[in-house]
Amino acid sequence: MKQPEKLGDTPPAEFRKQLHELADWIADFREHIEQLRVAPDDKPGAIREQLPKRAPEEGEPFEKILSDVDQIIVPGMVHWSHPMFLGYFGWTSTAPGILSEILTAPLNVNAMTWRTCPAATELETVVIGWLRQWVGLSEEFEGVIYDTASVGIMHALAVAREEAAPSTRKFGLTDRDLPRFRIYTSAQAHSSAEKAAIALGLGEENVVHIPSDEQFRIDVNALGQSIAEDKQNGLQPMAVIATVGTTSTASVDPVHDIGKLCREAKIWLHIDAAYGGGFGMLPEYEWIRKGWELADSIVINPHKTVFVPLDFSVLYVRDLARLWRVFSLVPEYLRGDTVEAEKNYMDYGIQLGRRFRALKAWVIWRSLGRAGVVARLREQIRLANLLADWIKNDDRFELSAQPSMGVVCFRFIDADEKKLDQLNSDIVERINASGRAYLTQTKLRGRTVMRIGFGNVLTTEEHLRMGWEIVRNRAAEL
Ligand SMILES: Cc1ncc(COP(=O)(O)O)c(C=O)c1O
Repeated sequence: MKQPEKLGDTPPAEFRKQLHELADWIADFREHIEQLRVAPDDKPGAIREQLPKRAPEEGEPFEKILSDVDQIIVPGMVHWSHPMFLGYFGWTSTAPGILSEILTAPLNVNAMTWRTCPAATELETVVIGWLRQWVGLSEEFEGVIYDTASVGIMHALAVAREEAAPSTRKFGLTDRDLPRFRIYTSAQAHSSAEKAAIALGLGEENVVHIPSDEQFRIDVNALGQSIAEDKQNGLQPMAVIATVGTTSTASVDPVHDIGKLCREAKIWLHIDAAYGGGFGMLPEYEWIRKGWELADSIVINPHKTVFVPLDFSVLYVRDLARLWRVFSLVPEYLRGDTVEAEKNYMDYGIQLGRRFRALKAWVIWRSLGRAGVVARLREQIRLANLLADWIKNDDRFELSAQPSMGVVCFRFIDADEKKLDQLNSDIVERINASGRAYLTQTKLRGRTVMRIGFGNVLTTEEHLRMGWEIVRNRAAEL
């Protein structure tokens, strides 16, 4: 006769053994990550093919599962934590970060209200305060942790919408004779503005892209003109999004001038400092914080620059009650758990269930300290400037934008102009297919350029030298 299925959890002694095994696995992975390909060379579907078509009927031993991770999953990954991963904004993996994720798992709380987990709620307020101090933001701004900046901007614009069209929360946007609302941002801005406009029923076509200057910063005169023209045509300006650290080049919009314009016109100012915000911790980067005091909301992604692993994004709102007024909603079944005067973070966004994200920031930021974070950011800037120098000293390449943070855009130019876009794209594709390094491409002023982003704590000058050698060799081959 078949044994009855065992209930409950793994027996403690066996669990302990598995944990030790996993600890070794993690330490080995981290120590030897450099020996892996940065990206796989599989065709789409290759990983699926190696996995069973049906969900398992019977439970399987952990050892077998871990072995499949080794054999199938790890080789099928782009290793963002690899020192030769030079794509996007690099990556924020650190040993304390890994420890913090492990520590969070067994606690497995739901921080929807203060009472459902006082420590998670209060720690969230504490770490939001730490980051605010570090970047020198005034205490008028309080915050909330979301998964991503895209979600943060959507919440910020929901408040802007409510203030532009009161009672939208209650009655929606239709059948109310409302004007067409407009959101302005630079041509270099991230597409999360459009996603928010889609989600909020404002329409992606109402996100107006203002041209940028030669340093990829929004043209404030053109912004003012666009706002004035829209008003004349009966459209209603609702929000401006200024970017501190754009996705392609890390350029920084003139936030102070934009802020003055927004104040005069009574328009919501959101600052997308998803990438650049972390650099505000550096005294020598005080210039990027100019004008932040004029903002209504600011988003900073510690999962980009303050060494917290994905996902971790903070939205700051001046007078956080404005956000609360749009999203607080207490159903009867939660009333008993919401009586205390403390914050219930479920009231500051659409999410009810909330995981214990604050713990990871707390562990990492205590482990590195402000000085440790700042030193690592400075190293990224040093590497970016070093690469920029190498590029300037090689006639076959040109720098496409002066680096301002940890991003370098450049272009191979030693061929017929008509072929350059394709050639630059091919260089990136070939490098990524080789598995030896990973970088990205973007378009600046309609031209394809290569882009290298720093962020990985394991990336050293030696890795960069290797990466630059690979770029030059690939370019020579083509
Ligand atoms: C400037 C900027 N804003 C917003 C985002 C969106 O960030 P998230 O992935 O956290 O939504 C990005 C992503 O790279 C970005 O570069």
